[in-house]
Amino acid sequence: MRILVTGGAGYIGSVIVEELLRAGHTPIVYDSFLTGHRAAVPAEVAIVAGDIRDTALLTRTLAEERIEAVIHLVGLIEVGLSVTNPAAFFETNVGGTMSVVRAMIETDVKRLVFSSSAAVYAEDAPLPLREDAPTGPTSAYGASKLMVEQLLGWVAPAHGLICTSLRYFNAAGATARNGEAHAPETHLMPLVLRAAERDESVSIFGTDYPTVDGTCVRDYIHVRDLASAHLLALELSAPGVTIYNVGSGTGYSVRQVIEMARAVTGRALPISERPRRGGDQYATVATSERITRELGWRPQQSDLRTLLATAWAWRQAHPNGYAE
Ligand SMILES: NC(=O)c1ccc[n+]([C@@H]2O[C@H](COP(=O)([O-])OP(=O)(O)OC[C@H]3O[C@@H](n4cnc5c(N)ncnc54)[C@H](O)[C@@H]3O)[C@@H](O)[C@H]2O)c1
Repeated sequence: MRILVTGGAGYIGSVIVEELLRAGHTPIVYDSFLTGHRAAVPAEVAIVAGDIRDTALLTRTLAEERIEAVIHLVGLIEVGLSVTNPAAFFETNVGGTMSVVRAMIETDVKRLVFSSSAAVYAEDAPLPLREDAPTGPTSAYGASKLMVEQLLGWVAPAHGLICTSLRYFNAAGATARNGEAHAPETHLMPLVLRAAERDESVSIFGTDYPTVDGTCVRDYIHVRDLASAHLLALELSAPGVTIYNVGSGTGYSVRQVIEMARAVTGRALPISERPRRGGDQYATVATSERITRELGWRPQQSDLRTLLATAWAWRQAHPNGYAE
């Protein structure tokens, strides 16, 4: 299939491009390089440099490249910015998706796989989180993802679109070629590994939560496992919106992540304990039974050691990230 990957120069998108190539598909990347990297895209993959809100360019790209499906990853993800500049999140994440949908309608492209997030769920939703758990985002970021799911719910049946919304939990890990290089970095595993590289201490925000060891618990999913969920979603054929969680089903605490990072890196990683941070949910863990049952998806590399070992190997091989 000829597949447009919006955000294909980003962390998750670049790994999806790798997996699409491996499976014999033809990915075409659409990206503004706001946070993505040209070097993350293999030389044989065509790149269209543009903003996601440029509907005319998107429409032309879908037509000229004879696109059969869109995997739409473009989005602002930095939580801090979501607090100080929520409008930017709605413009890029909601407005950008409407631009994609409009271009698809104009060119009769039917298949869309959308990057949603665990951030759509309500704070007090029962664990493990199922797709039908109450939603109630606590950030503009989460709200923007939920709005997209809602708008797709209206648009997809009216235009015969086949949409899959994948609610990712915490993406982590790396392939030999691509890894996580966000700036600023806000995700735990790359922060811990950066501290290991620099022989610095790691901050833990909150050590008195009602969890196994008092620290926050998260469900981490390896980027390659995440990528394989997209390939399976491309095979769906029912018009409308299908929502799947994509998580490992296992929660790891901050202390467990640090403990494993010590084992993987051989570094001391001293801890600096800090008070709770406002806005942190103390535990998010998925059940991904639905995508397993319906699409046969199973995580293969999302155990804690593999997540950290692959990310560490990538960092060791790319000490400057994607910089020349
Ligand atoms: N990383 C995670 O743990 C996680 C979890 C849940 C959901 N998601 C979602 O997955 C998607 C990808 O996340 P990521 O971690 O790879 O982020 P990323 O920042 O690495 O990738 C986003 C890509 O979108 C591009 N982009 C941003 N704004 C653009 C615009 N206006 N026009 C065109 N391109 C633009 C960036 O250049 C980048 O290549 C996002 O939608 C994110 O919300 C990520």
